[in-house]
Amino acid sequence: MSRLKAHQKKTVTFRLNGLPVRADAESRTLLSDFIRHEIGMTGTHVGCEHGVCGACTIQVDGAPARACLMLAVQAEGTDIRTVEALSPGDDRLSALQAAFKRHHGLQCGFCTPGILMSLDALIGARPDAGREEVRDHLSGHLCRCTGYATIVEAALSALDDIRREDNDNV
Ligand code: FES
Ligand code: FES
Repeated sequence: MSRLKAHQKKTVTFRLNGLPVRADAESRTLLSDFIRHEIGMTGTHVGCEHGVCGACTIQVDGAPARACLMLAVQAEGTDIRTVEALSPGDDRLSALQAAFKRHHGLQCGFCTPGILMSLDALIGARPDAGREEVRDHLSGHLCRCTGYATIVEAALSALDDIRREDNDNV
């Protein structure tokens, strides 16, 4: 494997929210910083920068991942989704986003993008998830406003809505 020096840049190519990205990144640049500062997608938030708070959670190849624990160069060839991908269109909210709004699942909102990306992955993988699974899934996220009760209610409401919609479409 070739070794890169700290300031040496490498071209990274991956997909971001369905679109191809090709840009140069220093070998030491965090994926979170790369997405925010190089690409300009600032929906992904950065809190602790060492994998504890969950604010920077994105989806890499469909699974939740801490963007602050990945280097940009490690994104090579991956398929990445950030919170900007959740909305189905201009002025429209996904079922999960709408449920957060309805149930007041956020206060300052700083932790919210990461929580949404985690829950979106859970909904995709486990549409039958119940309260305990939702709570367990959220255990990797810190919300300093301690709005956990309404976040759990919002997630359960979104799961209900999505199941109902799926049944209606059968
Ligand atoms: S900023 Fe990545 S886990 Fe806190
Ligand atoms: S809404 Fe999570 S920290 Fe405020």
